[in-house]
Amino acid sequence: MINTIILAAGQGTRMNSKVSKVLHLVGNKVMLQHVIDASDSITDSIHIVIGHNSDSIQKVINNNTINWVYQKDQLGTGHAVQQALPNIKDGSICVILYGDVPLIKTSTLKILIEQAKNSDFSILTVIQKDPSGYGRIIRGPSQLIQSIIEHKDASESELKIDEINTGIMAIRGSLLKKYLNQIKPNNSQGELYLTDIVEKAVEDNVNITSLICDDSSEVMGINDKNNLAEAERAFQLRQVKGFMSNGLTIKDPSRFDCRGNFTFGNDCIIDTNVILEGDNEIGNNVTISSNCTLKNAKISDNTIILSNSIVEDSIIGTHSTIGPFARIRPGTNVGNHAKIGNFVEVKKSSIGNNSKVSHLSYIGDSSVGNDVNIGAGVITCNYDGVNKHQTVIEDGVFIGSNSQLVAPIKIGKYATIGAGSTITMDVPSEKLTLSRNKQTTISRWKRPKKK
Ligand code: UD1
Ligand code: CA
Repeated sequence: MINTIILAAGQGTRMNSKVSKVLHLVGNKVMLQHVIDASDSITDSIHIVIGHNSDSIQKVINNNTINWVYQKDQLGTGHAVQQALPNIKDGSICVILYGDVPLIKTSTLKILIEQAKNSDFSILTVIQKDPSGYGRIIRGPSQLIQSIIEHKDASESELKIDEINTGIMAIRGSLLKKYLNQIKPNNSQGELYLTDIVEKAVEDNVNITSLICDDSSEVMGINDKNNLAEAERAFQLRQVKGFMSNGLTIKDPSRFDCRGNFTFGNDCIIDTNVILEGDNEIGNNVTISSNCTLKNAKISDNTIILSNSIVEDSIIGTHSTIGPFARIRPGTNVGNHAKIGNFVEVKKSSIGNNSKVSHLSYIGDSSVGNDVNIGAGVITCNYDGVNKHQTVIEDGVFIGSNSQLVAPIKIGKYATIGAGSTITMDVPSEKLTLSRNKQTTISRWKRPKKK
């Protein structure tokens, strides 16, 4: 049996934020959730030690399979783990994780647990170029771990050691309980150090094993906004490598951000500075050009989203073109072989197959049929200042440039609207309808001259 304890009671002062440290986001997911997700599939139970901001943490995580443990005063990592001990089974392997170390991998934890099944105690360490601030791993003559010395308690020679304690460990429940009962706050910070159980285990002749983590981003702790940005980039690079391995073409992995779930077909291309949020799905042979943001978008095969476009909570069909500079707002459904061009905003509307809205338009609360051509600068006037109204444009309609369609309104099949019209009443099928002042020319008029 595997039990997991996640420590998350600290205040996180250096974040300079009212939001709890472990609730800050990496890839748009709270850090603590990353840790839960990394351990969920390999553990039988998760116990999270909380103190500061406990209410907000429980509210955000909102998971009733988690056992919340309250640590009233933060008296050290050893004290924090002690609070969770009543829930830990003697025969189990107990894994200790941290809410502010978000990028730990499940595969690493698996190895650590396997080691602990044999040795009863296994510690995850890492070689750090700049080990300052961390607990140092002290190894004996045969390279076996003897103890962990905190930076603040270390001697000159111990400070030179570059193998540090990540804090992450796996240990037999019975031993964890035994040694945590023996530790004392005899250190410069007057805290109960979890790390002091190492010496107790050594005295007890436990053969402590270790795993040296080869990817330091996995064990990086987040203390301030600098660390948070580093973690974000590390997370993004790890994710993008996975996407590329699965065949996605990414023009520059360092200029791509996916903050959520992303599925893609074959031969898709993502150009620079694309941001994906929420759940996005693109089919085969889809191209997303530079500077686009997609949020909960579904884009079908052979469609291209041109530069500087935003697609949110919308569905785009096959062989269609969106953008450049298009804004597709929530509730939009664009059909196949359709075109939404530059400076076009579409909201809560359906656009049929082979239909085109090529330039400078606003289409809101509308149902646009197939084979419709909407000229430049056409606006659906969907809002009367109080309520929103629907516009229905049937198949084959042609709307001349710079026309306003005052909703509620219906334009019948194959109707043509003359350019510059303000249409306020329903329009019959197949006819030309226009509303326009007659053009006049004043022949005697003279252009004024400068005095
Ligand atoms: C700890 C380790 C150090 C290791 C480092 C890795 C100890 C004594 N030291 O040091 O060897 O190199 O992590 O980052 O364990 N927490 C509680 N309750 C408490 C105290 C802490 O929940 O009473 C939580 C904090 O919220 C934090 C984590 O435990 O998530 C680590 O605590 P922190 O005070 O940051 O330990 P470090 O001094 O960094
Ligand atoms: Ca820390």
